[in-house]
Amino acid sequence: MPDLPYEDVEIEGHLIDSLMMPHIMDQVMDLDGEFEMLKFEVGRMKDDPSHAMMRIFGRDATHLDEIMTAITEFGVVAVKPQDAVLRAADMDGVFPERFYSTTNLTTFVRIGGEWIRVGHPEMDCGIRVDPEEVSAETVAMSDVQAGDLFVTGHKGIRVLPLERPRESQPFEFMASAVSSEKPKAQIVHEVAHILRQVKEEGRLTIAVVGPAVVHTGAAPQLARLIEAGYVGCVFGGNAVATHDIESNLYGTSLGINLTSGSPVPGGHEHHLRAINTIRRAGSIRAAVDQGILTGGLMYTLMQTDTPYVLAGSIRDDGPMPEVITDVMQAQREMRHYAQQAGACLMLSTMLHSIAVGNMLPASVRTVCADINPAVVTKLADRGSFQAIGIVTDVGLFVEQLADELTR
Ligand SMILES: NC(=O)c1ccc[n+]([C@@H]2O[C@H](COP(=O)([O-])OP(=O)(O)OC[C@H]3O[C@@H](n4cnc5c(N)ncnc54)[C@H](O)[C@@H]3O)[C@@H](O)[C@H]2O)c1
Repeated sequence: MPDLPYEDVEIEGHLIDSLMMPHIMDQVMDLDGEFEMLKFEVGRMKDDPSHAMMRIFGRDATHLDEIMTAITEFGVVAVKPQDAVLRAADMDGVFPERFYSTTNLTTFVRIGGEWIRVGHPEMDCGIRVDPEEVSAETVAMSDVQAGDLFVTGHKGIRVLPLERPRESQPFEFMASAVSSEKPKAQIVHEVAHILRQVKEEGRLTIAVVGPAVVHTGAAPQLARLIEAGYVGCVFGGNAVATHDIESNLYGTSLGINLTSGSPVPGGHEHHLRAINTIRRAGSIRAAVDQGILTGGLMYTLMQTDTPYVLAGSIRDDGPMPEVITDVMQAQREMRHYAQQAGACLMLSTMLHSIAVGNMLPASVRTVCADINPAVVTKLADRGSFQAIGIVTDVGLFVEQLADELTR
């Protein structure tokens, strides 16, 4: 293939265990490119990394660039790396043409011959570089400002892929991404272990919470986890706040009595009346200060000064005054906390779990508890491949977790 343009690349790591080599080869062939293996040294001991060098061929420079961009996310780096090619944004809210679109993996960018770490890994963003500060960070499209410098093409990019651990790790026993037929007590034990670790490291565990947590009677158990410092931030929508407050003002969630499990006459109006009461008070915080709201999840958030973000959606009633209805603003608020996360519990909300999953670095230990296995599959399909799914009733899961951690 002497006439075709090519680039020599290398890759190091657990290339066989983590199936990185087949992924790279597949990717090159799927894009109608070709490769030649120049060197492949397999690690001899189980902790030894393997090392490979390949020559990647494309039809022309553009095709080669497309292939190189695709395989960069598997940790491939040019043998003779060049500095990243920067281009200034010419409009607010628009990346320059051929911008590099990020993954959620740890990423480095080469500037002035130095590899610098990109701040706040997040998928589907651009990489803004400040050459004077010699710094780089991910930026969402809506936050682009004209004149900002962005990385374009694949040159000068190095990505660290997540490698499959060789040794038994917490969660390794759940090697399948979605677990419905695994011992739940053991799973809860492992999740508790992670939350303890994250707390000891002084990092943040975010709980992303759907209204089923309230419907199943688990809101007080989640409040226990917040009081004990295992959950340091809560994301949700209008529904979880509404039904939590409904349950505290009326003893119902969506009109169902939480003690007897039976529908209450006129109960279907309770959630709307709850929203109205809070709107009249001015805010959830004001309702707590005025002694109107005296218990529950939202009350606990206020009393413990735990940060939370309630993001609006299309069919919200009211909404509650604290719900952020500008979705881009809600995204920015969530991103602020997502960047500090060490772990994330996604509890029965498909909408918010997928949204938050897209904001988290792949290194954040993520657990999704939902009764529907498709939710975890969707999370993984949308790029949050690190999420571990637990197919279970969220009420039982949160209660067992709170018991395990606060007993
Ligand atoms: N009246 C309102 O204002 C109102 C009412 C409902 C929803 N909303 C809003 O709509 C958006 C989407 O709502 P959502 O997050 O509830 O819906 P969603 O469909 O995104 O997620 C609900 C999830 O809960 C799971 N689930 C249900 N029961 C469960 C159980 N017992 N155990 C485990 N998982 C269970 C389902 O499988 C589903 O994945 C949110 O922003 C919400 O605030 C508003």
